[in-house]
Amino acid sequence: MNFKAPVLTVDGPSGSGKGTVGLLLAQRLGWHFLDSGALYRAVGTTAVSQKIDLSNRAALVQLAEHIDIRFIPKAGDDLMAVMLNGEDVGDSLRTEESGRQASIVAAIPEVRQALLQKQHSFRQSPGLVADGRDMGTTVFPDAILKIYLTASAEVRADRRYKQLKDKGFDVNLRRLLDEIRERDVRDAERKASPLKPADDAHILDTSQLDISGVVEQVYRLLQERQRRR
Ligand code: DC
Repeated sequence: MNFKAPVLTVDGPSGSGKGTVGLLLAQRLGWHFLDSGALYRAVGTTAVSQKIDLSNRAALVQLAEHIDIRFIPKAGDDLMAVMLNGEDVGDSLRTEESGRQASIVAAIPEVRQALLQKQHSFRQSPGLVADGRDMGTTVFPDAILKIYLTASAEVRADRRYKQLKDKGFDVNLRRLLDEIRERDVRDAERKASPLKPADDAHILDTSQLDISGVVEQVYRLLQERQRRR
């Protein structure tokens, strides 16, 4: 049988709300969840901790091929635990530094290629919610529904600021805004899978919307799609 579990893709830039929206939808649907950014973050931070230079493509590909990462749903504010090589890594992959390292390794086509198969392996019954930058364009082009979330850089910086402050990180709003803009440019201008909405994606600007409103809207769209199939 050639059954492929349905996939809902939620793409968008950092701070657009895609992580929280994706997780809440996965929980509501009882589907699996893939935080693809965590894969790139894991490759970047593991490389740095092993003193591998972020320009050493061969070593980074090796790391990407062997990374063992799982997302375990849990109660509480975080909604999920990230298990890297069997260990709960807590918030260590969520720092701005880890995001910066991820964005550098994510620009290497061989690393993206090495992570492709790993991402496909998350597609399991009854379904998958996949969050990232190129879920709808490259990784799951046959997704049942593709969502692209966006918000102004200022709103996204403000959200990240609050998130990081709540977690006890020492952060500076101005610097966060500069970093977000810098990362947007790197993610949008890279040759391999640049950040852009799929042609058939629903684009939702979340600047003026709260998370529960976005979740509700996407949930309804998905129900509509499933009815039409
Ligand atoms: O979503 P995030 O902030 O965790 O992503 C961290 C970096 O990883 C981001 O700068 C771009 C990269 N990334 C990517 O290139 N493709 C993805 N599917 C997910 C993330």
